[in-house]
Amino acid sequence: MTNYITLATQNTLCIFDCRGVQPSLMYWGAPLAGEHSEESLARLHTRQEAPACASDEATISMCPTLGNGYLGKPALEAHRHGKHWSLNFQLTRIEKTSSQSVIFVSEDRHAGVELRQTLSLDNSDLLSAQTEITNTHNEPLCIDHSSAACFALPAYLAEVIAFDGRWANEFQMQTTPLFRGNYSQENRHGRTSHHAFPAAIIQEKNTTESQGRAFGFHLGWSGNHQFHIETLADGRLAVQFGELFLPGEMILQSGQRYQSPTLFGSFSKMGRNRLAQNFHQFVRSKILANQQQEKPRPIHFNTWEAQYFDHDANKLFSLADAAATIGAERFVLDDGWFLGRRHDRSGLGDWHVDTSIYPDGLSPLITHVETLGMEFGLWLEPEMVNPDSELYRKHPDWVLGCHESKTVLARNQLVLNLTRPEVQEYLFDCIDTLLREYSIRYLKWDMNRDLHQPGDHNGHAAVHGQTTALYQLLNRLRQAHPRVEIESCASGGGRADYGILALTDRIWTSDSNDAVDRLNIQKGFSCFFPPEVMGSHVGPHRCHITGRQLDMSTRAGVALFGHMGLEVDLTLESKADLETLSAAINLHKKYRTLIHSGDYFRVDSGEGCDTFGIIDRRKNEALFSHTPLQSKTATLPSVLFFEGLNSDKSYRLSLIWPENFSTTTASIVDEINSIEQPFITSGAALQEHGLQLPLAHPNTVLIFHLLEQD
Ligand code: DGJ
Repeated sequence: MTNYITLATQNTLCIFDCRGVQPSLMYWGAPLAGEHSEESLARLHTRQEAPACASDEATISMCPTLGNGYLGKPALEAHRHGKHWSLNFQLTRIEKTSSQSVIFVSEDRHAGVELRQTLSLDNSDLLSAQTEITNTHNEPLCIDHSSAACFALPAYLAEVIAFDGRWANEFQMQTTPLFRGNYSQENRHGRTSHHAFPAAIIQEKNTTESQGRAFGFHLGWSGNHQFHIETLADGRLAVQFGELFLPGEMILQSGQRYQSPTLFGSFSKMGRNRLAQNFHQFVRSKILANQQQEKPRPIHFNTWEAQYFDHDANKLFSLADAAATIGAERFVLDDGWFLGRRHDRSGLGDWHVDTSIYPDGLSPLITHVETLGMEFGLWLEPEMVNPDSELYRKHPDWVLGCHESKTVLARNQLVLNLTRPEVQEYLFDCIDTLLREYSIRYLKWDMNRDLHQPGDHNGHAAVHGQTTALYQLLNRLRQAHPRVEIESCASGGGRADYGILALTDRIWTSDSNDAVDRLNIQKGFSCFFPPEVMGSHVGPHRCHITGRQLDMSTRAGVALFGHMGLEVDLTLESKADLETLSAAINLHKKYRTLIHSGDYFRVDSGEGCDTFGIIDRRKNEALFSHTPLQSKTATLPSVLFFEGLNSDKSYRLSLIWPENFSTTTASIVDEINSIEQPFITSGAALQEHGLQLPLAHPNTVLIFHLLEQD
């Protein structure tokens, strides 16, 4: 067997040391110039015996275990009734499946466990890692803890950015200095969760958006998860991410195997922007590739904040008229259309049109929507049931629960046990029937509660089973209806991850349509997801959730940088606001391809403002958004230093949003928007010398357009 395995792209080099009992990541970073052998790299890290320690502390392998004598958090903990608890794998086979992928096979013959670790480095510089564990013994194996992979990372790393949040304020970035000990995150919500997004950025000190070395990690999984970023006693750094198991949840019978979710990681030596770009490119080329990518993403009109449960056919017809007039391309009928669903206390589970509201079914509305040139989409929450529903009255045993305990209700609903085949069958039939009966092109698949008591009908913990059953159901529906697009929604952004994204097309980022809060939510989201999957809607003047009041120009200016939509009663908006909205929709349509395919750059523009840009891959055209969020003490705003342009190219610069922007005294805007004399300057000048920003009220979204000039 070879001693070292190398996976490389133009920007990334990964070297695995295979000399020990288990492979370990020896180097992950930029390609190394000059002469060096793998042996010399290994020798550079020769460690001496530390006082009062073992003569040779265990390596941080990709799966360190207690049997190795490892004193950090093991990456696999399992046992058979208390025996075979230590595990000690021996690497037995290396399958180099391509120049950029490898499979390591290891065995613990004594314990009867096989380990298969698959790694591949994609051209977008994403390293994907997955572990498969097989029980080769004749007695069951109970896995208490398992990570998709464990990596030894460089000692220059100094801080962790993790993603905290709550309902209506997801993806909040939280920076913590690394410390001796274990920085860990556990998610036990049973879904990806608002509170603990399964991702982290680990970076060296003073890393900015565009400078510094950083690693990004994301676990593509929609159930419980854990991660550990652990600085060991001797200073080495071990990072592992994986699924989190509840007691007894993962028991492998003889011959059974467990496949971990995939851990996605990337390295950048050019700050966090490059990480985001790598993740975006990977999503575009590998996760969304086979889905509805050919056509532009249609502008949504969603009925939720316009109507809530108060469905009224006439009103919906007027909303459809108003939406089409203003430029919407898809009309999504949200919660409230099905049997008994006049509020959130009843109806979930009974997926039949409520004929007291829609006497002739949904066809008249759908025909109206289609006649107006829009597609029709429908809201569903298939995994849930209200106790007050026909379904629950008939099948009270179809829900997850811990039978001896008092049932926890959340939003008046219970969770259906998808691990029961008859439940899957029921849901498939309901949805399949709707999709066959009606011309539905889009499903908003919602999921509005955590899994507090996730016990199945056999009395076992079942978050893993529930998550894989959901994936199966989605997969089956997609195969039966490949042209129907699906949105992953869970009370907003409670289920955003690459596991669900591989089976859906869009993510509802947050229930908050407050454009100011959205800037921060979208900033966190954009670390791992590209703008085209980021549902982002224009809400009402007074945000229903935060009460903040914002101009249409701000609401629309923020929403147009994602997969744009409207979620507002258009019949109540003023003529002036509708004109502004219509202009923003036109702007989005004009630059939709750029926004949905370009490279995303955040700009370090200081406290109290938000600045980012999207630049096409050839660096010919760009949009930059700058929003001052607070009044400053300085009399004038600062200078904006653009990012990501080609220094050698010349660009024509203009301010394109807000329409007819005017400021108190003559400003740069008069210069750059001069019709007679287009403002042309080099990428270098824009980046190194910068642009003096004009005075603007807080929360004004300023959008600059840059176009290369020959
Ligand atoms: C939560 C979602 O995030 C909202 O957009 C809306 O669809 C409601 N559920 C409907 O109940």
